[in-house]
Amino acid sequence: MEDPSVDSDPKPLRSLLHRLGALNVPRGDGLAFVVLFSVVVFLVAVEATTGVLLALYYRPSVADANASVRFVVTDVEYGALVRAVHHWAAHGLLVACGATLAWAVLRRAYRAPNAFAWVCGVGVAFLAMLETATGAMLPWTRQSVIEAEISSTLAGQVPVVGPLLRGLMLGGSEPGDLALARILGVHAGALPMALTFAVLLLALHAAGCTPRKASEQTIPLAPNAALRASIAAAATVIVLLLLSSFRTPPLAASAEVARASASGIKPSWFLAFMHQMLEAAPARMIGIPSASVITTALVLGFGAFALFPLVDRRGSRAMQAVVLVALAAIVGGTIRALLS
Ligand code: HEM
Repeated sequence: MEDPSVDSDPKPLRSLLHRLGALNVPRGDGLAFVVLFSVVVFLVAVEATTGVLLALYYRPSVADANASVRFVVTDVEYGALVRAVHHWAAHGLLVACGATLAWAVLRRAYRAPNAFAWVCGVGVAFLAMLETATGAMLPWTRQSVIEAEISSTLAGQVPVVGPLLRGLMLGGSEPGDLALARILGVHAGALPMALTFAVLLLALHAAGCTPRKASEQTIPLAPNAALRASIAAAATVIVLLLLSSFRTPPLAASAEVARASASGIKPSWFLAFMHQMLEAAPARMIGIPSASVITTALVLGFGAFALFPLVDRRGSRAMQAVVLVALAAIVGGTIRALLS
């Protein structure tokens, strides 16, 4: 006898689509999540597509990297547009990840059964930040060299694995050809794979979640929620195309490592808060170099931020307030750093 609980459709893809189509999304929070998350997924897809196009011309060597990016912008048809879309979609992805996390905190949407989704979401945001930071090093401008130096120095301060991390990043004592090849490998290979994995885990988890209360009103994923997600994606395309057409990302001259100095260099906006903390700190704290103290505090703070819903299972208001204050401090610090 055939087990009725087993789907007898011999075509797995059709069966999967059928199951997805039959999913229901809770109105309100569930729907907001679908819309925000679809913008994140859409931007990751845009990055992967435009990234592969840019990689067709990119040459990962200190002597050629900057010239190869310049060639794309000036000589390749639609090259400037593709680069601009890659640039703005990266920053849009950070904003979309930040907005999704902030929304989850405000609505306490990280509570059970969503704690694992929260951990994946923080993972997606972290990987998107690493992608944007490594990408900014690829055109090998003075800013790229200084950021490569600062990030490898900070990575070197991470407790226990720091020196190994720094050695792996640089492949030598200072940023050079090997570092650039590794940055490209991480940017175009390892990180996109990890990011795709985290996004898939999050989507699978969300698809398996049941509404928190049986009485919660739901709407079908297809077509209702999917239609709203498509409208959000279409609005993202319009904003991306407008930004890319009217705000060309800058491309400074190639840098010489020995001559690169940090004077006049502003860190990327999403790292501004961290840089300001490092600048404001005294040289040593409790007898230890402050870069070490701050990096350790950041690693621990980030771990706590990612894992707190697993500890605070009920989602207490007190913990929500603590996380909100931490987020407000980061946003306020970033704005202050950008204005200074
Ligand atoms: C979420 C994924 C990704 C993000 C957030 C991201 C972000 C960035 C950023 C911010 C830049 C610097 C652009 C600029 O100079 O203004 C960049 C450059 C670059 N990216 Fe990506 N990227 C992603 C995925 C990829 C993938 C999958 C590839 C290749 C398979 C790739 C290849 C490149 C190349 C070759 C450059 C150097 C060219 C240039 O600077 O214009 N990226 N990326």
